[in-house]
Amino acid sequence: MEKKKKFPYAVNHPIVMDMQPGKYAFCACGESYKQPFCNGNHGDTGMLPIIEVVEEPQTVAWCGCKRSAQGAFCDGSHKY
Ligand code: FES
Repeated sequence: MEKKKKFPYAVNHPIVMDMQPGKYAFCACGESYKQPFCNGNHGDTGMLPIIEVVEEPQTVAWCGCKRSAQGAFCDGSHKY
């Protein structure tokens, strides 16, 4: 049986987006094909989305590699 790839939709760079105020569910498991956001595919991964609130319009660098120590936000970990 083929081993399932860990974090199949993770990318090796931040996902930079202009965000409007609101509540966002960041995909922590890497299984969502709607990166960087959860689409419910975490299923049996044992992981849940990280809920973040954006208070005002701003540019956000979401973590694309799923290794950031800052949770949903890029901390440069993709470089290492
Ligand atoms: S699909 Fe990844 S946390 Fe929900």
